[in-house]
Amino acid sequence: MKQSSFANLLFRSLAAAAAILPPSDNTTVTVDLSRTRGASKHWGSGFIYGIPDTRDQIPDYYYEDMKFQYGRAGGAQMGAPNRGWIWGLDEYYGRLNSTLSNYFTCRKYGASFIILPHDVWGTDNANSSTFWPGDNGDWTDYSNFVLQLMSDMKARGATEGLVWDVWNEPDIGIFWDRPLQQWIDLYILTHKILRSDPEFDVVEISGPTLAFRPLPDNPWWTLWLDQIAGNDTVPDQYAYHLEGITTQIDNDLQYTNASLKALLETYNLPERQININEYANWEEQVPASAAWWLSRFERYDAWGLRGNWEGGTALHDLMANLLTKTVNAFIYNATDYVPAPEYPVYTYYATNMTGLRATTTGSTDRQFDAYATIDNKVRILAGSRLITGNWTVVVEHLDAVSLPRSGCVEVKTWAFIGTSVWDIVTSPVDLGISKLDYVGSTLVIQIVQNDTYTAYAFEFDV
Ligand SMILES: *[C@@H]1O[C@H](CO)[C@@H](O)[C@H](O)[C@H]1NC(C)=O
Ligand SMILES: *[C@@H]1O[C@H](CO)[C@@H](O)[C@H](O)[C@H]1NC(C)=O
Ligand SMILES: *[C@@H]1O[C@H](CO)[C@@H](O)[C@H](O)[C@H]1NC(C)=O
Ligand SMILES: *[C@@H]1O[C@H](CO)[C@@H](O)[C@H](O)[C@H]1NC(C)=O
Ligand SMILES: *[C@@H]1O[C@H](CO)[C@@H](O)[C@H](O)[C@H]1NC(C)=O
Ligand SMILES: *[C@@H]1O[C@H](CO)[C@@H](O)[C@H](O)[C@H]1NC(C)=O
Ligand SMILES: *[C@@H]1O[C@H](CO)[C@@H](O)[C@H](O)[C@H]1NC(C)=O
Ligand SMILES: *[C@@H]1O[C@H](CO)[C@@H](O)[C@H](O)[C@H]1NC(C)=O
Ligand SMILES: *[C@@H]1O[C@H](CO)[C@@H](O)[C@H](O)[C@H]1NC(C)=O
Repeated sequence: MKQSSFANLLFRSLAAAAAILPPSDNTTVTVDLSRTRGASKHWGSGFIYGIPDTRDQIPDYYYEDMKFQYGRAGGAQMGAPNRGWIWGLDEYYGRLNSTLSNYFTCRKYGASFIILPHDVWGTDNANSSTFWPGDNGDWTDYSNFVLQLMSDMKARGATEGLVWDVWNEPDIGIFWDRPLQQWIDLYILTHKILRSDPEFDVVEISGPTLAFRPLPDNPWWTLWLDQIAGNDTVPDQYAYHLEGITTQIDNDLQYTNASLKALLETYNLPERQININEYANWEEQVPASAAWWLSRFERYDAWGLRGNWEGGTALHDLMANLLTKTVNAFIYNATDYVPAPEYPVYTYYATNMTGLRATTTGSTDRQFDAYATIDNKVRILAGSRLITGNWTVVVEHLDAVSLPRSGCVEVKTWAFIGTSVWDIVTSPVDLGISKLDYVGSTLVIQIVQNDTYTAYAFEFDV
């Protein structure tokens, strides 16, 4: 385990300054203890792939301790003889078996499972010269594929907790090498086939699952929205991905939740559950960014599945880099699993942050955010998006949790450390207790952070 710089955390009691601090700025987040938002569903406790095809290879407690809620897979990157439908029925069954194994792992922990039909079809073994669904206007083979897959899922009792993600990232060439309209036709056709089978009523449909964001100048979104409205094929979940460049303003739920809302109004479409079923780029897979993303999912009540940047067999292992192995990380069937740096963040978030959620605001520049819950303790998880800075957490309305309007609280601090997904970090570092004075029911916690990866948690009794 690499040593981390957690000695750089400084507290300053700013009781006197509290009254004049702005409610939010580029370095401040706020937590309003008087406005609760119900208990958390742990919206961010999911990841894509990361589950071994061998059942029970990763011990139960790794799923249970993080309250695993959502998986997503379809047998991607399996070589011959498991390359998918386009190579014949046997190769289809190879991928289906991997998919079903992952489905049953998810269900064991009560998690939902998103099936990726484009992987079962075999897009990762296709190219522009290969046969794609609907080529030459012929949908027979694709329809047979959908019907076969539905029939096999029913036969195996694999429809409960299932989400059918119609086609992954058609706006990226490797997953869809055909015109936009051919994909919309695919979406509408698939939706109609699924909904024509009453046994599939229990299965949710998600789309458009675009890699790029819901913006009014993105025709993949606008033409799709227009035509699903006309054809009465609105999915049960609007799914899309946020894995772009960290500083892009629209690579952020704060931006896209509003931009999608505006598009839905334009096309007169109903609201649906949002599922960011891939989020965070590779660099963002550090504790601070995890805290930032989780804060976003909780604020927008959106499901979030952590992106997975592994390939080959490691794609089907390591819980999307929430785990590593003491020595054999790239040996698929080795079981020397240990937590990677973000795993303790997800565990603390799901297991320790009990009670009701408090209303929070992120920093104005969108680079620092916090999530907070109220139980027998107030717990605040805070992180920045790959930047250093001097942060301020302003906790308002301590009187709402039965604390006096002024006084002193003992704040316990945890640091979630680790610079790389290959570090081993089994638990947060205890930074001890600081006594902080406050006035006006407002507590000010300051963090001086000069690394880009550490997340912090603050706790005090109420
Ligand atoms: C944090 O930054 C300060 C000021 O640049 C420096 O003195 C200190 O050594 C840094 N702390 C760590 C742990 O890197
Ligand atoms: C898939 O699994 C079934 C058992 O569930 C087995 O009979 C079949 O041979 C497997 N197919 C492939 C291609 O692995
Ligand atoms: C991809 O295209 C090449 C020709 O460009 C062809 O030889 C190859 O078989 C194709 N691969 C697949 C999986 O269809
Ligand atoms: C219905 O979908 C088809 C594509 O499958 C599209 O051509 C047509 O314009 C849509 N109808 C409406 C009214 O949007
Ligand atoms: C997010 O967008 C939905 C519409 O899809 C809207 O109902 C909801 O209020 C938005 N959430 C926030 C916190 O703005
Ligand atoms: C892992 O697989 C290799 C061959 O692929 C085998 O030799 C080894 O015994 C397996 N190890 C375990 C722990 O199953
Ligand atoms: C989180 O909760 C577990 C179970 O109660 C406890 O063992 C652990 O110490 C807690 N962790 C922190 C950081 O408070
Ligand atoms: C806040 O951040 C925004 C975006 O990065 C920047 O344009 C603005 O200048 C910053 N404001 C201050 C006061 O630093
Ligand atoms: C953060 O605060 C420290 C001292 O408290 C100061 O040396 C440093 O310049 C500040 N960093 C920023 C980015 O403001």
